Amino acid sequence: MHARLFALLLLVAACSSTSDATPAPTPTAAVDSADPGAPAGAAAARTPRTDINPRLLRRFKPVRAELHADATAEPSQAQVDLGRMLFFDKRLSKDRDLSCNSCHDLARYGVDGEVTSVGAKGQRGNRNSPTVYHAAGHVRSFWDGRAESVEEQAKGPILNPAEMAMPDGKFVVEQLRRIPGYVAAFATAFPGDKDPLSYDNVGTAIGAFERGLVTPARWDRYLAGDKTVLTPEEIGGLALFTDLGCITCHTGEFVGGSTMQKAGVVQPWPNQKDQGRFEVTKQDSDRMIFKVPSLRNVAKTGPYFHDGSAKTLDEAVLVMARHQLGEELPPEDVAAIVTWLGSLTGELPASYIVEPTLPPDGPGM
Ligand code: HEC
Ligand code: HEC
Repeated sequence: MHARLFALLLLVAACSSTSDATPAPTPTAAVDSADPGAPAGAAAARTPRTDINPRLLRRFKPVRAELHADATAEPSQAQVDLGRMLFFDKRLSKDRDLSCNSCHDLARYGVDGEVTSVGAKGQRGNRNSPTVYHAAGHVRSFWDGRAESVEEQAKGPILNPAEMAMPDGKFVVEQLRRIPGYVAAFATAFPGDKDPLSYDNVGTAIGAFERGLVTPARWDRYLAGDKTVLTPEEIGGLALFTDLGCITCHTGEFVGGSTMQKAGVVQPWPNQKDQGRFEVTKQDSDRMIFKVPSLRNVAKTGPYFHDGSAKTLDEAVLVMARHQLGEELPPEDVAAIVTWLGSLTGELPASYIVEPTLPPDGPGM
């Protein structure tokens, strides 16, 4: 049986059983080819799909409480608290007007909502700001994967001329040294270090904080075995997602974030200006290779794609099916997938992301 037809049938069956106001039309062709023996009416009245192939389901994982590289790498509370301060501190930017939180607003699921980010002096960068939630668990950092970890990544934007635009790491450290509260906080967070206030430790502390940026969702309860938390419509969307093959790339704990893949596998990506990983390696085989984004919280993190070219999630799903899989999805399939994606929206860690009191400027700043 054709997998898509099968999925569609299940979806229709699922929808018709829950909407008592408007009876869903019965797609006779789909019903016939899906189950030649059964009369159409009987198929439509079939119990809605309440589960998915368990083997496929095992390719996803519930999210961990904290995203440490390994069990021995757990940061101290002092490092996490210092990292939180640095994440919110605009004094890490040249004009004292931008913090990490400016482009990765933790109260807005870690994004800025812009097509591409606005950095120092109001300049627009060339890429869309990805969310910092769960970024610590990804295989690599940045759209082109140029940083190994969030600790390494964090040292990038502070010095990026289009972002926070500080001249160099030494200058950042000099500024922080003039703030007595930071001198003390670095000493507490890195007690074994000869030189606790170093640029590397700025990255380590911010990374320590980011490893706790996790948003458990209804989806996690479903994966943990509570099959009642997803509606039949959501399960219908999930069935489409797995049957179509979206799951080959968007998989694992973050429904993405685990591999680098080509944008435009079947049909070339419309915008070829940014060549992705090729910009880093200059190898032809890396043209248009981007990190597969996580789909957790995706309903909240538009606009979409590295170039911010899709305004809505519906559009992003349509473009993905077309360019990655060669499928033209009808609107009802797009809607079903988008409905399921909503179940990946998690709960913000309210107390963890409260903006901390920042240490005041030292004398002469
Ligand atoms: C001016 C806006 C801006 C500021 C300020 C900024 N970022 Fe970003 N951030 C971006 C953009 C845009 C990208 C994507 C860039 C790329 O992939 O080349 C990004 C990428 C990231 C990523 C990678 C996420 C992923 O999924 O690969 C992390 C983590 C991150 N930023 C954390 C930070 C931290 C920590 C700070 C503060 C030290 C910071 N950012 C400051 C805009 C910003
Ligand atoms: C061959 C791998 C692959 C397949 C299959 C695939 N994707 Fe993607 N997906 C990607 C990559 C790579 C990106 C980033 C593209 C870019 O920004 O240039 C992406 C981006 C997305 C985004 C945007 C996320 C964001 O934060 O910007 C959504 C939504 C999405 N995919 C959904 C889907 C759906 C739904 C399907 C199935 C219809 C699918 N994908 C199939 C690799 C894949």
